[in-house]
Amino acid sequence: MSELTVIVLAAGGGTRMKSKTPKMLHQIAGRSLVGHVLAAVSEAGASRVVAVVGHQRELVEPHIAEILPEAVIAVQTEQLGTAHAVRVAVEAGAVSGGTVLVTYGDTPLLRGESLRALVADHEAAGRAATILSGIVPEPFGYGRILRDGAGVRGIVEEKDATDEQRAITEINSGIIAFDGGFLAGVLPRIGNDNAKKEFYLTDAIALAVADGLGVDAFVLDDVSEAEGANDRAQLAALGKILNERIVTRWMKDGVTVMDPATTWIDADVELAPDVTILPGTQLIGATRIDEDAVVGPDCTLKDTEVGHGARVVRTQAELAVVGPGANVGPFSYLRPGTVLGEEGKIGGFVEVKNSRIDAGAKVPHLSYVGDATIGEGTNIGAGTIFANYDGVNKHKTRIGRHVKSGSGVTFVAPVVVGDGASTGGEALIREDVPPGALAVSAGQQRIIEGWALAKRAGTPQAAAAEEALESGVPILGEPSTTGE
Ligand code: UD1
Ligand code: CA
Repeated sequence: MSELTVIVLAAGGGTRMKSKTPKMLHQIAGRSLVGHVLAAVSEAGASRVVAVVGHQRELVEPHIAEILPEAVIAVQTEQLGTAHAVRVAVEAGAVSGGTVLVTYGDTPLLRGESLRALVADHEAAGRAATILSGIVPEPFGYGRILRDGAGVRGIVEEKDATDEQRAITEINSGIIAFDGGFLAGVLPRIGNDNAKKEFYLTDAIALAVADGLGVDAFVLDDVSEAEGANDRAQLAALGKILNERIVTRWMKDGVTVMDPATTWIDADVELAPDVTILPGTQLIGATRIDEDAVVGPDCTLKDTEVGHGARVVRTQAELAVVGPGANVGPFSYLRPGTVLGEEGKIGGFVEVKNSRIDAGAKVPHLSYVGDATIGEGTNIGAGTIFANYDGVNKHKTRIGRHVKSGSGVTFVAPVVVGDGASTGGEALIREDVPPGALAVSAGQQRIIEGWALAKRAGTPQAAAAEEALESGVPILGEPSTTGE
């Protein structure tokens, strides 16, 4: 294979997105549209990538530079057509000989292997240009491939086509492989005398034919992979197709997905064989799930690691780590910095932030754990609050190993509880607890007789109390039988 330069045209506006975000930066499967294209281009073995930017380049340019720092950026200040855009790239000095592949920045389904096949076919035949084409049932809007018998003669754009030409169903995907020398020479010869008054790159084909040079179309079986996203509906449709592709790939790699239609997996997620994903699950960003883990139903995990054999049910998590064999959910909220150790548990209606819960430790019910460390084998009772914020600063709580903490405890940070200590139910722990000690703070229950009658006179509460007291029944009557 000769030197491959890829030009990515990304200067267009994308007004139909009706967005402050440039079209190329809209995301599906956790990557921008142009991010998907750059991934395909890298897979195809590009030795050089030139991105042509224009519209909102203050946003597009840094985004491309972040994904592919070695990309050359060429600026097209006015969008005068695809040939003009390619000329801007060539003039940026980045294109010399070898093969030059022109692609667009908004085609997220494009596969690296298709680009590779196109380039291989183009180079094997030694042509001036090879068009990536395909047959579509509804060719409206596309450039049509004009053939003379089997040979390609040119491309005619929708707006310039005759009725007869509009009936042609073989279309230009927009992706064209060129001989670099031919491309550099032909660009200045392309004019803008056409319906859109634009410089059409597609005119290069007829010029090559006129020069007696070799051109052809490489027909892709499913040209829909070169489809662009012009509005939000197309964005969602392409997102769905891409997701199906990703989910299918993981199933082929040994992941059980009970309901592919409601399972969403980003492009950069990693799954081990024998992972099970239950319905309604979204795996986002750099999420990684290890062997035999079961995730779902109804989980949203972002940039989260789930260990071997762990179980995560109806959970929202971000930048969290769930250890091997650990249990999370249902209805758990794991915020950034949550690290749950091996065989640990974060149970129902528990929120955890920036905290380490060590191996075998459990926070089973209705609790908030913030800025804490909880040692191995410790059990935190139901309804426990780690009060980490004094209104100005956040403080840390450290709980040792094998601590038994009663229900409804409030740990007021900064505070430390030693190994093997206990805290009584409803305790308000403001001071450090030594190892092995029992800390209690809830005082003895006090009864103030008749309080409701004195302080809540005239309310339904007082009326109910009065009625009960007058009836002479001790505290509460027998439970009433239901039904009959
Ligand atoms: C183009 C092709 C058409 C093909 C279709 C496939 C031409 C003349 N026509 O038509 O044959 O069937 O794509 O989708 O090439 N761009 C720039 N600068 C410009 C103009 C365009 O960067 O000055 C970029 C756009 O951002 C876009 C791409 O090039 O990503 C295509 O431009 P667009 O104007 O949408 O071309 P089409 O009319 O769709
Ligand atoms: Ca287009």
